[in-house]
Amino acid sequence: MKASAKAHTNIALIKYWGKRDESLILPMNNSLSLTLDGFYTTTTVDFRESLTEDSFYLNDQLVSGVEYERVTSFLDLIRKYAGKPNLFAEVHSTNYVPTAAGFASSASGFAALATAAAKSLGLKISDEELSILTRQGSGSACRSIYGGFVEWEKGDRSDGSDSYAIQVAPANHWDIRVAAVVLSSSAKKVLSREGMKRTVDTSAYYSSWVESIPDDLSNIKEGIKNRDFAKVGEIAEANCLRMHATTLAANPPFTYWRDTTLAVMQTVQELRENGVSAYFTIDAGPNVKVLYLPENEETIQSTLREIPGVDDVIASRAGQGVSYI
Ligand code: PMV
Repeated sequence: MKASAKAHTNIALIKYWGKRDESLILPMNNSLSLTLDGFYTTTTVDFRESLTEDSFYLNDQLVSGVEYERVTSFLDLIRKYAGKPNLFAEVHSTNYVPTAAGFASSASGFAALATAAAKSLGLKISDEELSILTRQGSGSACRSIYGGFVEWEKGDRSDGSDSYAIQVAPANHWDIRVAAVVLSSSAKKVLSREGMKRTVDTSAYYSSWVESIPDDLSNIKEGIKNRDFAKVGEIAEANCLRMHATTLAANPPFTYWRDTTLAVMQTVQELRENGVSAYFTIDAGPNVKVLYLPENEETIQSTLREIPGVDDVIASRAGQGVSYI
């Protein structure tokens, strides 16, 4: 049966940084994100008896190599789960995530793939099970199953059966906006997988990072519940800075920041000094995401666009969870 699904990417306000199990993708810490409606992936999966291997098309191009391997290993997992280990699929994906925006398309990509694949195999699974499956394709993707504010519970079990995402508040709870600030040169040097491993293994600050999470989480959830923008923004910004501090204390040390990354961070702090409420967060790359409220949309957009080295500013609202199309 052929099935199509759509999934949005998400931005972490409390970061997932570090795995306790590399192959099952089990995190060291809980994380919390906002699903974004501006950036998404649509995927069609067709499992057919007549196929002898999987094929994967991304934006109409046949994909091979590492990207193809990641998709087939994920399909292996889902085939096994469905008890149909010898059934292969044709997969067509379209990414509506501008690569330059610095959002990993893997979050929306694996959430859409898991949802369409499960449906194509006729699996009747709960969102919780879908999140568990998706997690094994890409960690942060397990949060994209849900819309709005989403927490990924790290879980305690070694088989990962309690490591999945849950919704904290739906997208319509609060109209909070995120601007993706695209820098002119933004090639990522240390992949998130590698960066996490190096920090867990060597960073002198890693244990402090893990210890700081429970307070951040309970405070940000209270802030979200009360729609307290300053509280949510302050916690998200500080959490991001702490995550990036772990990379500086790694061996060998590294950072995802460039000069323009710092320029954007400083501009956001200046905006606040001038009474415009805005906060930044940064993932495993040089681009910056800025959180703001709708009434400041124009000021935020025009101020960020003026920074030398900034190519584009792409705004997004809170988005919905996965859906069938
Ligand atoms: O799931 P991955 O491997 O793309 O890692 C995501 C890591 C961060 O983006 C830095 C943080 C997060 O929670 O999304």
